[in-house]
Amino acid sequence: MPLVPAAKLLQHAQENRYAVPGFNFHNMVDLQAIISAAESEEAPVILMATEDTINFVGFDYVQGLAAAAAKGASVPFALHLDHGRNPDNLVKGIRYGFTSVMFDGSRLAFDENIRLTGWVADVAHRAGVSVEAELGQIPGHEDNVSVSEQEAGLTDPATVAEFVEKTGVDSLAVAIGTAHGLYKREPKLDFDRLEAIRKEASVPLVLHGGTGVPDEAVKKAISLGICKLNVGTDLRLAYMGSLRQTLEDPGVHDPRVLLRIAREAVMDVVRGKIRLCGASHKAGMI
Ligand code: 13P
Repeated sequence: MPLVPAAKLLQHAQENRYAVPGFNFHNMVDLQAIISAAESEEAPVILMATEDTINFVGFDYVQGLAAAAAKGASVPFALHLDHGRNPDNLVKGIRYGFTSVMFDGSRLAFDENIRLTGWVADVAHRAGVSVEAELGQIPGHEDNVSVSEQEAGLTDPATVAEFVEKTGVDSLAVAIGTAHGLYKREPKLDFDRLEAIRKEASVPLVLHGGTGVPDEAVKKAISLGICKLNVGTDLRLAYMGSLRQTLEDPGVHDPRVLLRIAREAVMDVVRGKIRLCGASHKAGMI
């Protein structure tokens, strides 16, 4: 099954009122876990690499891993560059076969965010690649992107229609009370704000910071128009927790034993999030 633009997956999710989960991966093991779990659930998924992951793995390896996955995969998936802050990296990502890029101009002034996001959207669309943008600032820490609670700001619904129209983006990440990384206290999502945003924009909406958001809140957000749920930290916790546990056994000398168990631990988390998003059994319909 070929790699597809994220917009194709999100359009189907929007029409059928579920969300496509986007999962951050860091290496071959968690990429395989995501694809295998998606296949077992017959679900579309979005594989997401941040600029830090690309620096760690290298563009050539990311491209090779995605191509290997696409060769054998029985489900449609997109390869997404998550939180790109450098437009040059996004252009490079497009050349390397990413089918979706996020330009994160959330720290910029509104007009500058429009100008640069619009430029990225022009370039990406000419290559058939989808574009996600961010309006408002989501707090927390996601690889190279760190936003303090003081800097953070919720998305202002009054700015949404102008932003979407002037940039031509395919999807919009909104700040409605979630944060990247681990929460210090249970997050309270601003559903009234989400409803107001939905009225202003018809593009699929994206919820970042999916780790630690209570299931009921995720389901409600999806019912109000969220079409993509980003999850990263939960996968890292499963991976690292599994490694720590297996390493307690002094009889384990083979990294493949260690990594196979970690891969299964990540698969369990991915399966749970796919079900939470209502994405199971949707692959065949796309
Ligand atoms: P978490 O790491 O909090 O799940 O957030 C992931 C994310 O939003 C990636 O863009």
